This record gives sequence, C-alpha cells and structure tokens, in this order.
Amino acid sequence: MITGWRCAVCGASVDIAQPFTWRCAHSSEADRHHAPQLVQTIEPLRSSGESNPFLGFRRYLAVDTFMERAGITDERRAALIGDLGQGFVTTPFERADALSDELGFTTDGGVWVKDETHNVGGSHKARHLFPILVHLLAAEESGLAAWSGRPPLAIASCGNAAIAAATLAAKVSWPLHVFVPQWASASVTTTLRGLGAQLIECPRRAADPPGDPCVHRFREAVAAGAIPFSVQGTENAWCLDGGRTIGWEMARHMEERIDGSPFDRLFVQVGGGAFAACVAAGFRMSGISPKLHAVQTEACAPLARAWERAQSLGGPKSAAEHWVECMWPWESVGSTAADGILDDETYDWLPVLAAMADSKGSPVVVAESFVARANEVGCRATGIDASHTGTAGLAGLLAIRDQVQSDERVAVIFSGVRR
Ligand SMILES: Cc1ncc(COP(=O)(O)O)c(C=O)c1O
Ligand SMILES: [Zn+2]
Repeated sequence: MITGWRCAVCGASVDIAQPFTWRCAHSSEADRHHAPQLVQTIEPLRSSGESNPFLGFRRYLAVDTFMERAGITDERRAALIGDLGQGFVTTPFERADALSDELGFTTDGGVWVKDETHNVGGSHKARHLFPILVHLLAAEESGLAAWSGRPPLAIASCGNAAIAAATLAAKVSWPLHVFVPQWASASVTTTLRGLGAQLIECPRRAADPPGDPCVHRFREAVAAGAIPFSVQGTENAWCLDGGRTIGWEMARHMEERIDGSPFDRLFVQVGGGAFAACVAAGFRMSGISPKLHAVQTEACAPLARAWERAQSLGGPKSAAEHWVECMWPWESVGSTAADGILDDETYDWLPVLAAMADSKGSPVVVAESFVARANEVGCRATGIDASHTGTAGLAGLLAIRDQVQSDERVAVIFSGVRR
C-alpha cells in the first residue's frame, strides 16, 4: 500500500490523500533539486489479469489510494480508470528470436523486446501522464478541486510526451497548452493541433536565464495556475506513479510466461530519466532486479557523468546530498538520431542511479554508429517500426555485447514509434 511521498533530498513528507502534491513542498522556482518518492509497504506483485495495466495493477497505483482516501468507492475507481483508460493494454513482450540469433545469443539466452509503439499516443509516455489526469478528475468528482473553470494542463515538449499529453487531454476535452521550440517538427505540431492542443512557440528572450525557453514558459504558466502535465518527476512527481506499469508488466510476464532463469540485464534509454526510474521501480516490486544499464548517447550523457562523480562523493547511496556536484546541464549537447533522449539534464537521476547501484548495473554511453545499427537491426529483425530513440536501449547492448555472455537474458523496450 502507498502511504505518501517522501523527498529523497530534503526528507519532506506528504500524505497520499493530499491532492495536487505535484512537487516537494521545498521545491521552488530557484531550486528544483528535490525528488519525491513514493512510500509504500512491501507486498507481492500480482495482476488481476485485466489487460489494461492500470486496472490489472490498480491496487499498487498511488492514484488508486488517493481516490480511495478521497472517499471514492472501489467500483467507481475501477470505472473511472477503465473508461478514461480505454486503449491501454498490456503491450507485447516476447523473445526476439531473429534478433537474438543475429546478436549471437544461445537458445537459453537472448533478447526480449517490449513493444510500446502501439501504446496510446505511440509511446510509453502516456503511462506517465494517465494517473495525473485520473487524479484531476477524481479531485473534481470528490469536491477537492476548488476551481470554477478548469485550469489548463501544461507541458514543455515537441515529441512523444506532447502527443501523449494531447491524446489524453482530448479524451476529456481538458485544455492543454504545449510549449514548443520554434524548430518543432511540422508533423508533430499538426498532430498536436489536430488533437485540440494550444501551441505556444517559445523563442529565447533576451532576459531569459540559461536553459530551455520552453521550460521557462512552462514554469511561468504553472506558477500562474496551470497544471504541470509533465513527464519529469521534478515538475510533477506523480508521473512516477503510472510509469511503473511497464515494469510491472515486464516482471509479471517474466514470472508467469518465461521458463528458466529471470532476466540478467535491462537496457533502458535515458533522457529525463523518469522512464528508467519507473521501469526499475516496477521490477523492484517483483523482488527481481536485473542489472540496469541506463543508455545515453555521446551527444549528451549527464547521467554517466553523475555516476562517475557520485563514486568519488560517497557512492550512489549518498548522491542526494550532492546534487549540484553530480548533475548539471550537459554543456555542449551534440546531435543524434535518438533525439528524444537529448535532455541536457537527467532530472530523475537519483532513482536511476540508485537502481543501477542496487542491481550492480552501470551506465552505457553509446556512439552514434550503435544508435544507427540498433535501429536498423532492431526494426528489421523484429518487424517493429520504432524510432531511433525507441531502439536506443538496444544500442547499449550492442555497445557492450562483448561483456555480455551469450546465454544471458536481456530485456529492452522499443519505447516509441517512428514518426
Ligand atoms: C520513445 C522514448 N523513449 C524513451 C524516452 C526517454 O524517457 P525519459 O525522458 O523519461 O528518460 C523518451 C523521451 O522523450 C521517448 O520519447
Ligand atoms: Zn524536497
């Protein structure tokens, strides 16, 4: 059971029944270096068997406990999640035989690929956002929301996260403001407008502090009352609730459907870090944590740098005390085909670092040639039409293939469709 949130940095706690606890109470405009984490009791991970993971694993979701504490009945909670969550299903997760052969794995070992390309919005991102929307609707329904008109949802993104946000917001006609750079791709902006989102172009202003102007405008909107519909835990920690469904699905599938030994390794592409944090958190609840390899590209690798720095500052366990010494924006972001993981800062770095340390994993920084090859071989051998960002975890495996035994079992996630 989930009881609340506790910040890994400052220790501030808040009860799960409290509505709209998007950020740590001590997080401010000047200091976003806070990391609320869910506090929960240990219990065996089981699914009810329903294909929609938000129903199948409902009892482990923070948002379900939030609703329960708001006085919403079990039946109504299931109905709310079931209705709003139409389209979410347990995504395919199978051993990729041709890919495993091509990479030289034996029949005992191999590569298992989780396919998120047909998920709601074409990527895993909607998993992060869905419970935030449920939280809002539940708050309205139970009288916890004091607004007269709905405040807009806000997100700074011009990729999968924005599309996921717009897809979900459209389901309930909740106004959504998307803060995008001037160079955002026309196909994405057209899709977003088609879904009813309002786009706000964000050129750099002379008075802007360093950093992404889209993030500055997003934060101003939130300060003025918009709801952070964000996939970064530092902007909305509740995104770390629903993202865990992917880890739960993978862990349950492993236990129920795969004979023999559990996974040895898990390669997860890392941008802002919420994705890897959630996959790892989901696995951890099953009691089995394969070695986590967080994969970044040479174009931008702040997490690998933080990992190195943390080793000399008391180790990953005490990294929370050393945020500024370990994690800061990558100075010279290069270019890569995996452009969805070019976040100059790994916002949710603390849980990813902890998960790598606990599982005896490590970060992997890949050259662009591996990014390209992973996409080519990954898509060809599986028939999945994923983007380079989506196959970037596989690039990590290719890069350290010589350190992986041929009978090891490896899991990767093709997290987004090619656009
Ligand atoms: C397809 C896809 N995979 C993975 C990621 C990385 O997720 P995160 O930013 O949470 O690390 C992204 C982020 O944009 C993405 O679009
Ligand atoms: Zn805090």
